[in-house]
Amino acid sequence: MKLVIANWKSNPATLEEAVALAQATDQNGIVLCPPLSFLEAVKEVIQHAVLGAQDVSLDAADELLSLRVKYVIVGHSSRRKLGETDEIIAQKVQALVREGITPVLCVGETRVEHQEGRTEEVIRRQLEVGLSLVASGEWLVAPIITYEPVWAISIEPDAQPDTPENAVSMAQFIKRTLHPTPYTLDPHIFYGGSVNPENVRGFLERPEIQGVLVGGASLKPDAMHIITGVASQS
Ligand code: PGA
Repeated sequence: MKLVIANWKSNPATLEEAVALAQATDQNGIVLCPPLSFLEAVKEVIQHAVLGAQDVSLDAADELLSLRVKYVIVGHSSRRKLGETDEIIAQKVQALVREGITPVLCVGETRVEHQEGRTEEVIRRQLEVGLSLVASGEWLVAPIITYEPVWAISIEPDAQPDTPENAVSMAQFIKRTLHPTPYTLDPHIFYGGSVNPENVRGFLERPEIQGVLVGGASLKPDAMHIITGVASQS
């Protein structure tokens, strides 16, 4: 069984809609990441899904723990665009693993970096710096690494999902890059970027990809039922 992480971003508009969406997508094998203001309400209604958050501020990891948050997305491109550096990301990753919360570290190149052939250089830096403060391997939780090319995220202009073949070769590259560090002997690698009911099987049927990070489609209960159905058989 593979994992589906639902990144609601700043949706939905109201608390009532958030509660309804949580109830409609409350299944095993899903991590729901609502906006911070809806975390408490979503926590109250879910019975099968696990709670996640979309970010952490450096001094608030313990607050997320008290809300029973198990996963936190870190280094999403929307935050990197706002100026979040790999060094800040490294501190967030460390703050989370100290609390026993699993960081979901997003790495991915922009379209320009992709076109310039700098993908591996960019991902290597994001991994090496982003994980530098947890490299000793003494922690109880290991980060999940999500390969999410920025050009594949649905809100980007001309977004296209990556191909499963390229996502697999990036997962292999990530494993090779992390291999010497103790906690990452078997890192879990996810794919994100325009995942939908039509293309999800292509990613999840590959043993190298252990889960998906889903944005736009996570707001549609019908799409999520298909995606989680595929994940549960994979
Ligand atoms: P998308 O978003 O599935 O809508 O492309 C993914 C993300 O931003 O994490």
